[in-house]
Amino acid sequence: MIEVSAPGKLYIAGEYAVVEVGHPAIIVAVDQFITVTINQAVGTKGSIQSEQYSDLPIRWFRRKGELVLDHRENPFHYILAAIRLTEKYAKEKGHHLSFYDMKVTSELDNSNGRKYGLGSSGAVTVATVKALNEYYQLGLDLMTQFKLAALAHLDVQGNGSCGDIAASCFGGWIAFSTFDHPWVIENFGRLSIAQLVEQDWPGLSIRPLKAPKALRLLIGWTGSPASTSDLVDQVHQSKKAKEQVYQQFLVASKACVEQMILGFETQNVTLIKEMISKNRQLLNELSAMTGVLIETPALKLLCDLAENYGGASKSSGAGGGDCGIVIVDQKTGILPLMSAWEKAEITPLPLHVYTKEEKNES
Ligand code: PMV
Ligand code: MG
Repeated sequence: MIEVSAPGKLYIAGEYAVVEVGHPAIIVAVDQFITVTINQAVGTKGSIQSEQYSDLPIRWFRRKGELVLDHRENPFHYILAAIRLTEKYAKEKGHHLSFYDMKVTSELDNSNGRKYGLGSSGAVTVATVKALNEYYQLGLDLMTQFKLAALAHLDVQGNGSCGDIAASCFGGWIAFSTFDHPWVIENFGRLSIAQLVEQDWPGLSIRPLKAPKALRLLIGWTGSPASTSDLVDQVHQSKKAKEQVYQQFLVASKACVEQMILGFETQNVTLIKEMISKNRQLLNELSAMTGVLIETPALKLLCDLAENYGGASKSSGAGGGDCGIVIVDQKTGILPLMSAWEKAEITPLPLHVYTKEEKNES
């Protein structure tokens, strides 16, 4: 039996700007996993079974009174896309395709189907590619696994930076800049999958970062789920009308995240905290410009309370619900904040940053 896991993720900074090539984000992998197992099947029939499919209700909402059901929120599509692409690659490389029973279990979705926003669709895509990499003995390095998972993810989601895929593939803290999407899409039709993943993708950069010892990351959950792809679509639609202010946001976000990366390189927690606050402000400006609600009242409360207790805080990822993050100095006591959150019905998530080395050691 093959069993592999891929971790969830949290965005730390650079959201929205990171969907544009050349604009970095900082992302971490967290120690909650999606696990994929594969068993060789008997005969000529295989199966795919996912907790995320049978046990999770399909979520929907209304826009202008209309029922909206976003298939990009359903993890099963990501599993299928990852299988299709990885098998295409395997076939091009001369591997014989066979039958298997695949099973997916998730720590990233809770039992009543409320998502934490920890990147379960990215993690399931990565875990599926990783499992098939082992099953067919493809010998793919991390970057190639990233590229296959990114292609599968784009196939379903259509938008997004794929930063969640990078965090899930590489683990730890990373600085990520996305690839030139039009270039990849154009070559997707022109080259074979094997040729495409063997190319250097223009713009793509994934760099591990070392967190200062004195840095502590706290995570709060608002309890309300958000649809990343829908929020990204909404920002995308309104950016055309406000091209100039949008460009200013991009320039400012890039400068802010580059400073934050410098904070990591020089182990300067104060600088990192300053840039978290700056990034919060920039996202609030983006929100005002586009009318897309990124920092919801619950996220605002989460962040304001964290600031009252000496932390630097912001929404994580697309916002609109899900989680907020806080950076504090290791020396700062966190209990007063934890009880303030509790009173405000913010759930602290007891997660840790996941790095691959740690897993090998245990
Ligand atoms: O909400 P999350 O954690 O899935 O993060 C989305 C981050 C965005 O920059 C808004 C979109 C993206 O694909 O990078
Ligand atoms: Mg989110």
